[in-house]
Amino acid sequence: MRDLRISVTDRCNFRCPYCMPAEIFGARYAFLPKPEILSFEEIERLSRIFVDLGVHKLRLTGGEPLLRANLADLVQRLSRIDGVEDIALTTNGYLLPQHATELREAGLNRITVSLDSLDDSIFKEMNGRKLSVEPVLAGIQAAEAAGFKSIKINSVVQRGVNDESIQELAKHFMGTGHIVRFIEYMDVGNLNEWVASQVVPAADLAVKISEFAELEPLPPNYPGEVATRYRYVDGSGEIGMISSVSNPFCGNCTRARLSTDGQLLTCLFAGSGTDLKSPLRDGRDDTDIRTLIETVWTNRTDRYSEERASIIDDKGHPHSDRKVEMYQIGG
Ligand code: GTP
Ligand code: 5AD
Ligand code: SF4
Repeated sequence: MRDLRISVTDRCNFRCPYCMPAEIFGARYAFLPKPEILSFEEIERLSRIFVDLGVHKLRLTGGEPLLRANLADLVQRLSRIDGVEDIALTTNGYLLPQHATELREAGLNRITVSLDSLDDSIFKEMNGRKLSVEPVLAGIQAAEAAGFKSIKINSVVQRGVNDESIQELAKHFMGTGHIVRFIEYMDVGNLNEWVASQVVPAADLAVKISEFAELEPLPPNYPGEVATRYRYVDGSGEIGMISSVSNPFCGNCTRARLSTDGQLLTCLFAGSGTDLKSPLRDGRDDTDIRTLIETVWTNRTDRYSEERASIIDDKGHPHSDRKVEMYQIGG
């Protein structure tokens, strides 16, 4: 266990159909009530225990993490933990103009912005709220201005939805120092009606990019890195491919996930987690909670992405048990 991904809210200001479809998550949808959500004190306490168990990277996710009030206060608390080497944030970028500077000052090291297309009409469909791409680009600029370097741009590619616009996205960020990473569309959760034919394999994406700029592979930055890295041969930067469907990477997965309501999940495709909030609130001490986490982690056998091929029927539908939703654990 090296990374802990912490979901700080299950709410979002977007309604991406593949994650939080607007038909289901309408005005009356009941998100978690405040008492169910881990407080900053609880997140800090759990993080200290995870760090003691080997974690040195923390990533804040959501839903949309910038909707959590006073997020910079949490960042500051986490940045003071001995042994935390890296604190990152995955955001849709929309609220970055308001928050980038305070997050930087609080000790946030890195930002990843989700952006599926630069084409306004495609982007409006993909965020489910008809929001234009401009505020997200302004968010990226605000993060740059606040001093964040090598911002990562995560783009989920869905065949027939945004696969024709990936070249435009890659070109836009060439020479900026930012790193676009194309993610194969995955069957996360139970709501997105995923079929295998919607996935554009990373190898095909690399060919598409090579049509306008020659690529060469780069070695991983660290063992178990999710993205396969490439550099543009002409020196205009780096891009990545996340091939979780065509070439799964379960074997060296070091990521633990903490849901908004304090469940420990050992896999992005887990059906359920281990409740850490109750022992915290029942007054159990750190040693008990540490032992609980350690036991869960040592007994994990997760390898969903490697097993996926064997549960897909001839129409491309996966037959799996109920899975956690993306907005509860943030990817
Ligand atoms: P870095 O620390 O910058 O290397 O970030 P990262 O690549 O670990 O994190 P990021 O949140 O940017 O991950 C990118 C995307 O990869 C996620 O949003 C998921 O879609 C996918 N992903 C991350 N972890 C896993 C995983 O354990 N399994 C699978 N199947 N996909 C994952
Ligand atoms: N497949 C791949 N990536 C996904 N994301 C959300 N749902 C999926 C999916 N089904 C991405 C978001 C964001 C990150 C948190 O996960 O677009 O970049
Ligand atoms: Fe880790 Fe599960 Fe993803 Fe495999 S499928 S890499 S075990 S989160």
